[in-house]
Amino acid sequence: MDFGTRVDSDGAFAILDSFVAGGGVWLDTANCYSFWADPSGVGGASERLIGAWLRARPGMRDSVRIATKVRQNPLVPHSWPESAEGLSARAVHTGVAQSLERLGVDHIDLLWAHAEDRTVPLEETVGAFGELVSKGVARRIGAANHAAWRVERARSLAREQRVEPWTALQLRHSLVQPRPLTPLAEAGHRMLAAEDLDLARAEGLAVWSYSSLIWGSYERVDKPLPPTYEHPGTARVLAVLDDVAGELSATRNQVVLAWLMRQGIDPIVGASRVEQIEQALAARRVRLSDEHLARFAEAR
Ligand SMILES: NC(=O)c1ccc[n+]([C@@H]2O[C@H](COP(=O)([O-])OP(=O)(O)OC[C@H]3O[C@@H](n4cnc5c(N)ncnc54)[C@H](OP(=O)(O)O)[C@@H]3O)[C@@H](O)[C@H]2O)c1
Repeated sequence: MDFGTRVDSDGAFAILDSFVAGGGVWLDTANCYSFWADPSGVGGASERLIGAWLRARPGMRDSVRIATKVRQNPLVPHSWPESAEGLSARAVHTGVAQSLERLGVDHIDLLWAHAEDRTVPLEETVGAFGELVSKGVARRIGAANHAAWRVERARSLAREQRVEPWTALQLRHSLVQPRPLTPLAEAGHRMLAAEDLDLARAEGLAVWSYSSLIWGSYERVDKPLPPTYEHPGTARVLAVLDDVAGELSATRNQVVLAWLMRQGIDPIVGASRVEQIEQALAARRVRLSDEHLARFAEAR
């Protein structure tokens, strides 16, 4: 997300090289990253940086999978959400064509609808995403920040239209939880809910989580947990987290990532330094037992 804005190209290239060297495969970006941090007031920097890195590393396109998103890029600089592109067929096709150009690729491995657009008939969005898959432009498609019932309705419409349905969900999720029904400070974020997991398990959908490290808050005094996480459950979970991290000689972040992966959830991790991506990749070797999971379940 921060590549090309908060993280300069030398730093981002080093992180990407280290990610691939450590066995990493999937890159998650979006056409709108990161308009809020870019003097231009529009997105595109992250995709452009990944495109530049792919060009500088011949053959690399075959070693990585690229996930990007459409719906959120401001059409008028510095005017979000007012001018954010939506999910009309025209917006989706235009947005994806621009993503392909910035990335310098001929297909996207997983295309996400970044957020809902209830001003457009869902049939139209479903048809546009399905067409991109039938043309080979998107290999897979998914929904980020969507209510579970909208995803299921879209999948039903896709069946009717005989096109590829959304097969992946992307939502915000971590070990500690914000107070229920409290609005999040981050515009556009949607928490993973029980019905999302229920839907994913019933239908065999992939689940990717974002902001799972809560921006470093598990480990850093300079980044305390946001106020919405202040409740007794957080203290209980953090106490168990420290015990488990100690028993496994792992960091708090690694145990959080291992806890997500153990439930079949794929955490997307943001990194602004090589050490951060190395630590995240090493979480794949952290093995949580059923007993660890039970302790976390009780504390949550
Ligand atoms: N679909 C959506 O709506 C949505 C929303 C948000 C994010 N995402 C996706 O998810 C990705 C990650 O999300 P995110 O950046 O919001 O959350 P995150 O992964 O929880 O936070 C990333 C930040 O955590 C800090 N960090 C990472 N590893 C660390 C370590 N080992 N020790 C200490 N601090 C560490 C770094 O902060 P510093 O840079 O300050 O060091 C890093 O930039 C994004 O790049 C994006 O692809 C999707």
